Amino acid sequence: MNTPKFKSKLPKAATTIFTVMNQVAQKYNALNLAQGFPDFEVAPKLISLVSSYMQRGFNQYAPMQGALRLREVLSNSFVLNHNKFYDPITEITITSGATQAIYCAITTVVQPGDEVIVVEPAFDIYHPAIEMLGGKSIPIKLKAPNYKMDWQEFEDLMTEKTKMVVFNTPHNPTSAIFDYQDMLKLQELTNGTDIVVVSDEVYEHIIFDGEQHQSVCRFAELANRSFLIGSFGKTFHVTGWKIGFCLAPDSMMKEFRKIHQNVVFAGNHPMQLAIAEYMEDSENYLHVSEFYQQKRDYFMQLMKNSKLKAIPAHGTYFQLFDYSALSDMHDMEFTHWLAKEVGVATIPLSYFYSDNFDNKSIRICFAKNDNTLEQAAEKLCKI
Ligand SMILES: Cc1ncc(COP(=O)(O)O)c(C=O)c1O
Repeated sequence: MNTPKFKSKLPKAATTIFTVMNQVAQKYNALNLAQGFPDFEVAPKLISLVSSYMQRGFNQYAPMQGALRLREVLSNSFVLNHNKFYDPITEITITSGATQAIYCAITTVVQPGDEVIVVEPAFDIYHPAIEMLGGKSIPIKLKAPNYKMDWQEFEDLMTEKTKMVVFNTPHNPTSAIFDYQDMLKLQELTNGTDIVVVSDEVYEHIIFDGEQHQSVCRFAELANRSFLIGSFGKTFHVTGWKIGFCLAPDSMMKEFRKIHQNVVFAGNHPMQLAIAEYMEDSENYLHVSEFYQQKRDYFMQLMKNSKLKAIPAHGTYFQLFDYSALSDMHDMEFTHWLAKEVGVATIPLSYFYSDNFDNKSIRICFAKNDNTLEQAAEKLCKI
Protein backbone atom coordinates (compact mmCIF):
# COMPACT_ATOMS: atom_id res chain seq x y z
CA MET A 1 0.00 0.00 0.00
CA ASN A 2 1.35 3.43 -0.93
CA THR A 3 1.41 6.28 1.55
CA PRO A 4 0.15 9.64 0.24
CA LYS A 5 2.61 11.72 -1.75
CA PHE A 6 3.23 15.29 -0.70
CA LYS A 7 5.87 17.93 -1.24
CA SER A 8 8.58 18.00 1.42
CA LYS A 9 8.70 21.20 3.48
CA LEU A 10 12.43 20.73 3.98
CA PRO A 11 13.65 18.80 0.93
CA LYS A 12 17.35 19.35 1.66
CA ALA A 13 17.23 18.57 5.39
CA ALA A 14 18.89 15.41 6.63
CA THR A 15 18.94 13.92 10.14
CA THR A 16 20.71 16.36 12.45
CA ILE A 17 24.41 15.83 13.06
CA PHE A 18 23.75 15.42 16.80
CA THR A 19 21.64 12.31 16.22
CA VAL A 20 24.11 11.05 13.61
CA MET A 21 27.13 11.50 15.90
CA ASN A 22 25.30 9.96 18.86
CA GLN A 23 24.72 6.88 16.70
CA VAL A 24 28.35 6.90 15.55
CA ALA A 25 29.49 7.17 19.19
CA GLN A 26 27.34 4.16 20.07
CA LYS A 27 28.45 2.13 17.10
CA TYR A 28 32.16 2.52 17.89
CA ASN A 29 31.70 2.68 21.65
CA ALA A 30 33.36 6.13 21.56
CA LEU A 31 33.32 8.73 24.34
CA ASN A 32 30.54 11.11 23.41
CA LEU A 33 31.79 14.70 23.44
CA ALA A 34 29.61 15.54 20.46
CA GLN A 35 26.16 16.74 21.49
CA GLY A 36 26.00 19.60 24.01
CA PHE A 37 24.65 18.06 27.17
CA PRO A 38 26.21 17.67 30.63
CA ASP A 39 26.90 14.17 31.93
CA PHE A 40 26.99 15.18 35.60
CA GLU A 41 24.40 15.35 38.36
CA VAL A 42 21.60 17.91 38.54
CA ALA A 43 21.37 19.78 41.88
CA PRO A 44 19.45 17.41 44.22
CA LYS A 45 17.47 20.39 45.56
CA LEU A 46 16.11 21.11 42.08
CA ILE A 47 15.12 17.47 41.57
CA SER A 48 13.34 17.33 44.89
CA LEU A 49 11.50 20.57 44.10
CA VAL A 50 10.13 19.03 40.88
CA SER A 51 8.96 15.95 42.71
CA SER A 52 7.43 18.05 45.47
CA TYR A 53 5.44 20.13 42.98
CA MET A 54 4.25 16.96 41.28
CA GLN A 55 3.20 15.46 44.60
CA ARG A 56 1.41 18.67 45.54
CA GLY A 57 -0.74 18.33 42.43
CA PHE A 58 0.75 20.84 39.96
CA ASN A 59 0.32 18.38 37.11
CA GLN A 60 -2.12 20.21 34.88
CA TYR A 61 -1.54 22.88 32.24
CA ALA A 62 0.61 25.85 33.13
CA PRO A 63 -0.74 29.25 32.09
CA MET A 64 -0.12 29.86 28.37
CA GLN A 65 2.44 32.58 29.18
CA GLY A 66 4.21 30.32 31.72
CA ALA A 67 3.97 30.08 35.51
CA LEU A 68 3.76 33.64 36.82
CA ARG A 69 6.23 32.93 39.61
CA LEU A 70 8.86 31.90 37.08
CA ARG A 71 8.21 34.96 34.93
CA GLU A 72 8.64 37.14 38.02
CA VAL A 73 11.88 35.50 39.08
CA LEU A 74 13.20 35.77 35.53
CA SER A 75 12.26 39.42 35.38
CA ASN A 76 14.15 40.02 38.65
CA SER A 77 17.20 38.20 37.29
CA PHE A 78 17.35 40.53 34.27
CA VAL A 79 17.14 43.56 36.55
CA LEU A 80 19.92 42.09 38.70
CA ASN A 81 22.19 41.10 35.81
CA HIS A 82 21.50 43.83 33.26
CA ASN A 83 19.48 46.50 34.99
CA LYS A 84 16.69 45.93 32.47
CA PHE A 85 13.05 45.41 33.46
CA TYR A 86 10.81 43.09 31.44
CA ASP A 87 7.19 43.10 32.60
CA PRO A 88 6.35 39.53 33.71
CA ILE A 89 2.73 39.99 32.66
CA THR A 90 3.22 41.30 29.15
CA GLU A 91 6.84 40.84 28.10
CA ILE A 92 7.90 37.34 29.20
CA THR A 93 6.79 33.93 27.92
CA ILE A 94 8.05 30.54 29.10
CA THR A 95 8.54 28.06 26.26
CA SER A 96 9.34 24.39 25.68
CA GLY A 97 13.04 25.02 25.33
CA ALA A 98 14.82 27.77 23.47
CA THR A 99 14.19 25.74 20.32
CA GLN A 100 10.47 26.43 20.47
CA ALA A 101 11.04 30.07 21.39
CA ILE A 102 13.32 30.58 18.38
CA TYR A 103 10.90 28.81 16.04
CA CYS A 104 8.01 30.95 17.29
CA ALA A 105 10.01 34.21 17.13
CA ILE A 106 10.99 33.56 13.53
CA THR A 107 7.44 32.48 12.65
CA THR A 108 6.01 35.61 14.27
CA VAL A 109 7.80 37.85 11.78
CA VAL A 110 9.03 36.20 8.60
CA GLN A 111 6.83 36.37 5.49
CA PRO A 112 7.51 34.79 2.08
CA GLY A 113 10.35 36.61 0.33
CA ASP A 114 11.74 38.23 3.47
CA GLU A 115 15.49 38.14 3.97
CA VAL A 116 16.98 37.09 7.29
CA ILE A 117 20.66 37.66 8.00
CA VAL A 118 21.97 34.64 9.90
CA VAL A 119 25.38 34.68 11.54
CA GLU A 120 27.30 31.52 10.62
CA PRO A 121 28.48 29.06 11.73
CA ALA A 122 24.90 28.83 12.99
CA PHE A 123 23.08 26.51 15.36
CA ASP A 124 21.11 24.30 13.02
CA ILE A 125 17.51 25.26 13.85
CA TYR A 126 17.51 28.80 12.42
CA HIS A 127 17.67 28.09 8.67
CA PRO A 128 14.88 25.46 8.51
CA ALA A 129 12.39 27.75 10.27
CA ILE A 130 13.16 30.57 7.84
CA GLU A 131 12.92 28.24 4.85
CA MET A 132 9.57 26.76 5.94
CA LEU A 133 8.10 30.26 6.03
CA GLY A 134 9.27 31.04 2.52
CA GLY A 135 11.93 33.43 3.82
CA LYS A 136 15.48 33.57 2.55
CA SER A 137 18.49 33.05 4.83
CA ILE A 138 21.37 35.38 4.07
CA PRO A 139 24.39 33.87 5.82
CA ILE A 140 27.29 35.96 7.06
CA LYS A 141 30.42 34.05 8.01
CA LEU A 142 32.44 34.45 11.17
CA LYS A 143 35.90 33.49 10.06
CA ALA A 144 38.76 31.58 11.66
CA PRO A 145 40.84 32.03 13.70
CA ASN A 146 39.00 34.42 16.04
CA TYR A 147 35.48 34.25 14.57
CA LYS A 148 34.83 37.98 14.82
CA MET A 149 32.04 39.71 12.93
CA ASP A 150 32.94 41.77 9.86
CA TRP A 151 30.47 44.65 10.24
CA GLN A 152 31.21 46.10 6.81
CA GLU A 153 30.21 42.80 5.26
CA PHE A 154 27.09 42.79 7.44
CA GLU A 155 26.13 46.26 6.26
CA ASP A 156 26.68 45.23 2.64
CA LEU A 157 24.21 42.35 3.08
CA MET A 158 21.43 44.59 4.40
CA THR A 159 18.71 45.31 1.83
CA GLU A 160 15.14 46.62 1.82
CA LYS A 161 14.05 43.01 2.15
CA THR A 162 16.00 42.39 5.36
CA LYS A 163 13.38 41.79 8.04
CA MET A 164 15.37 39.96 10.68
CA VAL A 165 18.81 39.22 12.05
CA VAL A 166 19.47 35.99 13.94
CA PHE A 167 22.58 35.78 16.05
CA ASN A 168 23.86 34.05 19.10
CA THR A 169 26.18 35.13 21.92
CA PRO A 170 28.03 33.43 23.62
CA HIS A 171 28.28 31.58 20.36
CA ASN A 172 27.75 27.91 19.66
CA PRO A 173 29.80 26.36 18.01
CA THR A 174 32.79 28.76 18.03
CA SER A 175 32.67 29.87 21.71
CA ALA A 176 33.23 33.46 20.52
CA ILE A 177 31.29 36.33 22.09
CA PHE A 178 29.84 39.54 20.70
CA ASP A 179 31.48 42.31 22.71
CA TYR A 180 30.24 45.77 23.64
CA GLN A 181 31.48 47.31 20.39
CA ASP A 182 29.78 44.59 18.35
CA MET A 183 26.47 45.29 20.03
CA LEU A 184 26.82 49.03 19.50
CA LYS A 185 27.50 48.39 15.83
CA LEU A 186 24.44 46.14 15.51
CA GLN A 187 22.38 48.82 17.22
CA GLU A 188 23.72 51.53 14.94
CA LEU A 189 23.15 49.52 11.74
CA THR A 190 19.59 48.54 12.60
CA ASN A 191 18.65 51.97 13.88
CA GLY A 192 15.81 53.56 11.90
CA THR A 193 14.86 50.23 10.25
CA ASP A 194 12.06 47.72 10.95
CA ILE A 195 14.54 44.90 11.35
CA VAL A 196 13.70 42.50 14.17
CA VAL A 197 16.55 40.84 16.05
CA VAL A 198 16.39 37.28 17.37
CA SER A 199 19.11 37.11 19.98
CA ASP A 200 19.86 33.55 21.04
CA GLU A 201 21.43 33.95 24.49
CA VAL A 202 21.07 30.41 25.82
CA TYR A 203 24.66 30.50 27.16
CA GLU A 204 24.15 33.83 28.96
CA HIS A 205 25.50 32.34 32.22
CA ILE A 206 28.53 30.63 30.67
CA ILE A 207 31.08 33.32 29.90
CA PHE A 208 34.75 33.32 30.90
CA ASP A 209 37.73 35.34 32.05
CA GLY A 210 35.68 38.08 33.71
CA GLU A 211 33.89 39.08 30.48
CA GLN A 212 30.40 40.58 30.80
CA HIS A 213 27.65 39.01 28.71
CA GLN A 214 26.51 41.75 26.32
CA SER A 215 22.82 40.94 26.12
CA VAL A 216 20.69 42.85 23.62
CA CYS A 217 18.68 44.03 26.60
CA ARG A 218 21.57 46.28 27.74
CA PHE A 219 21.16 48.43 24.62
CA ALA A 220 17.88 50.34 24.69
CA GLU A 221 17.26 50.49 20.95
CA LEU A 222 18.28 46.89 20.41
CA ALA A 223 16.11 45.71 23.30
CA ASN A 224 13.23 47.50 21.65
CA ARG A 225 13.52 45.43 18.46
CA SER A 226 14.59 42.07 19.91
CA PHE A 227 13.24 38.69 20.85
CA LEU A 228 15.72 37.67 23.55
CA ILE A 229 15.80 33.89 23.90
CA GLY A 230 17.17 31.85 26.81
CA SER A 231 17.21 28.29 28.12
CA PHE A 232 17.06 27.01 31.70
CA GLY A 233 18.36 23.70 30.35
CA LYS A 234 21.82 25.18 29.81
CA THR A 235 22.00 27.08 33.09
CA PHE A 236 20.82 24.29 35.39
CA HIS A 237 22.29 21.25 33.56
CA VAL A 238 18.80 20.03 32.62
CA THR A 239 18.75 20.10 28.82
CA GLY A 240 16.25 17.22 28.82
CA TRP A 241 13.61 19.30 30.59
CA LYS A 242 13.29 21.57 27.55
CA ILE A 243 12.32 24.78 29.31
CA GLY A 244 13.26 28.11 27.80
CA PHE A 245 11.95 31.63 27.50
CA CYS A 246 11.40 34.60 25.26
CA LEU A 247 11.57 38.25 26.35
CA ALA A 248 10.37 41.05 24.09
CA PRO A 249 8.64 44.43 24.19
CA ASP A 250 4.90 44.25 24.86
CA SER A 251 3.73 44.74 21.26
CA MET A 252 6.13 42.12 19.88
CA MET A 253 5.28 39.69 22.67
CA LYS A 254 1.55 39.97 21.86
CA GLU A 255 2.26 38.63 18.36
CA PHE A 256 4.73 36.02 19.64
CA ARG A 257 2.10 34.59 21.99
CA LYS A 258 -0.37 34.16 19.13
CA ILE A 259 2.10 31.69 17.61
CA HIS A 260 3.27 30.15 20.89
CA GLN A 261 -0.27 29.29 22.02
CA ASN A 262 -0.93 27.47 18.77
CA VAL A 263 2.33 25.57 18.78
CA VAL A 264 2.42 24.20 22.35
CA PHE A 265 -0.06 26.33 24.31
CA ALA A 266 2.11 25.97 27.44
CA GLY A 267 5.33 24.37 28.70
CA ASN A 268 5.82 21.81 31.45
CA HIS A 269 4.20 23.02 34.68
CA PRO A 270 5.88 21.33 37.71
CA MET A 271 9.36 21.97 36.33
CA GLN A 272 8.59 25.64 35.76
CA LEU A 273 7.54 25.97 39.39
CA ALA A 274 10.61 24.10 40.62
CA ILE A 275 12.96 26.30 38.58
CA ALA A 276 11.17 29.43 39.84
CA GLU A 277 11.71 28.46 43.46
CA TYR A 278 15.30 27.38 42.82
CA MET A 279 16.14 30.61 40.97
CA GLU A 280 14.84 32.78 43.76
CA ASP A 281 18.28 32.27 45.29
CA SER A 282 20.55 33.97 42.74
CA GLU A 283 23.49 32.00 44.17
CA ASN A 284 22.05 29.06 42.25
CA TYR A 285 22.80 30.64 38.86
CA LEU A 286 25.45 33.29 39.38
CA HIS A 287 28.38 30.83 39.58
CA VAL A 288 27.77 28.76 36.46
CA SER A 289 30.53 30.61 34.57
CA GLU A 290 33.11 29.77 37.28
CA PHE A 291 32.04 26.14 37.20
CA TYR A 292 32.51 25.86 33.44
CA GLN A 293 35.66 27.97 33.36
CA GLN A 294 37.25 25.42 35.68
CA LYS A 295 36.14 22.64 33.34
CA ARG A 296 37.53 24.48 30.33
CA ASP A 297 40.84 25.16 32.05
CA TYR A 298 41.16 21.60 33.30
CA PHE A 299 40.44 20.21 29.84
CA MET A 300 42.94 22.63 28.25
CA GLN A 301 45.55 21.54 30.77
CA LEU A 302 44.91 17.89 29.88
CA MET A 303 45.15 18.73 26.18
CA LYS A 304 48.33 20.83 26.37
CA ASN A 305 50.47 18.25 24.56
CA SER A 306 47.90 17.51 21.87
CA LYS A 307 48.56 18.36 18.23
CA LEU A 308 44.98 19.60 18.02
CA LYS A 309 45.16 23.39 18.20
CA ALA A 310 42.66 24.94 20.62
CA ILE A 311 40.85 28.10 19.49
CA PRO A 312 40.36 30.36 22.57
CA ALA A 313 36.90 29.78 24.09
CA HIS A 314 35.22 32.85 25.61
CA GLY A 315 31.90 31.28 26.56
CA THR A 316 29.55 28.25 26.16
CA TYR A 317 30.66 24.73 27.08
CA PHE A 318 32.26 24.01 23.73
CA GLN A 319 35.87 24.07 22.66
CA LEU A 320 36.95 24.29 19.01
CA PHE A 321 40.08 22.54 17.83
CA ASP A 322 41.88 23.09 14.53
CA TYR A 323 43.28 19.75 13.33
CA SER A 324 44.96 21.01 10.15
CA ALA A 325 48.42 20.06 11.50
CA LEU A 326 47.26 16.45 11.71
CA SER A 327 45.20 15.75 8.63
CA ASP A 328 43.79 17.24 5.46
CA MET A 329 40.64 15.14 5.62
CA HIS A 330 37.34 17.03 5.35
CA ASP A 331 36.02 17.62 8.87
CA MET A 332 33.01 15.28 8.29
CA GLU A 333 35.41 12.49 7.43
CA PHE A 334 37.79 13.44 10.23
CA THR A 335 35.07 13.24 12.93
CA HIS A 336 34.04 9.78 11.72
CA TRP A 337 37.68 8.69 11.73
CA LEU A 338 38.12 10.16 15.23
CA ALA A 339 35.15 8.25 16.60
CA LYS A 340 36.14 4.97 14.96
CA GLU A 341 39.91 4.97 15.36
CA VAL A 342 40.49 7.17 18.39
CA GLY A 343 37.26 6.55 20.29
CA VAL A 344 36.05 10.15 20.73
CA ALA A 345 32.87 11.49 19.11
CA THR A 346 32.91 15.20 18.19
CA ILE A 347 31.06 17.53 15.82
CA PRO A 348 32.46 18.83 12.50
CA LEU A 349 32.34 22.62 12.32
CA SER A 350 31.36 22.59 8.63
CA TYR A 351 27.91 21.31 9.64
CA PHE A 352 27.10 24.80 10.94
CA TYR A 353 27.87 26.60 7.66
CA SER A 354 25.17 26.43 4.98
CA ASP A 355 27.86 25.90 2.31
CA ASN A 356 29.60 23.28 4.53
CA PHE A 357 32.70 25.46 4.60
CA ASP A 358 35.57 23.36 5.96
CA ASN A 359 37.87 25.12 8.43
CA LYS A 360 39.46 21.81 9.46
CA SER A 361 37.97 22.27 12.89
CA ILE A 362 35.93 20.18 15.30
CA ARG A 363 33.74 21.09 18.25
CA ILE A 364 34.13 19.28 21.56
CA CYS A 365 31.66 19.59 24.44
CA PHE A 366 33.47 19.84 27.79
CA ALA A 367 30.32 19.80 29.94
CA LYS A 368 31.46 16.41 31.21
CA ASN A 369 32.71 14.77 34.38
CA ASP A 370 36.46 15.18 34.95
CA ASN A 371 36.83 11.47 34.47
CA THR A 372 35.24 11.63 30.99
CA LEU A 373 37.48 14.59 30.08
CA GLU A 374 40.59 12.75 31.31
CA GLN A 375 39.81 9.67 29.24
CA ALA A 376 39.03 11.79 26.16
CA ALA A 377 42.19 13.88 26.49
CA GLU A 378 44.33 10.77 26.90
CA LYS A 379 42.98 9.38 23.63
CA LEU A 380 43.21 12.69 21.77
CA CYS A 381 46.78 13.40 22.89
CA LYS A 382 47.91 10.10 21.34
CA ILE A 383 47.07 11.25 17.81
C1 LIG B 1 22.81 28.16 20.43
C2 LIG B 1 21.68 27.30 20.89
N1 LIG B 1 20.43 27.78 20.79
C3 LIG B 1 19.37 27.06 21.19
C4 LIG B 1 19.54 25.79 21.72
C5 LIG B 1 18.32 25.01 22.12
O1 LIG B 1 18.06 25.13 23.49
P1 LIG B 1 16.93 24.22 24.18
O2 LIG B 1 17.57 22.92 24.48
O3 LIG B 1 16.53 24.99 25.40
O4 LIG B 1 15.82 24.08 23.20
C6 LIG B 1 20.82 25.25 21.85
C7 LIG B 1 21.02 23.89 22.37
O5 LIG B 1 22.03 23.27 22.18
C8 LIG B 1 21.92 26.04 21.42
O6 LIG B 1 23.18 25.58 21.52
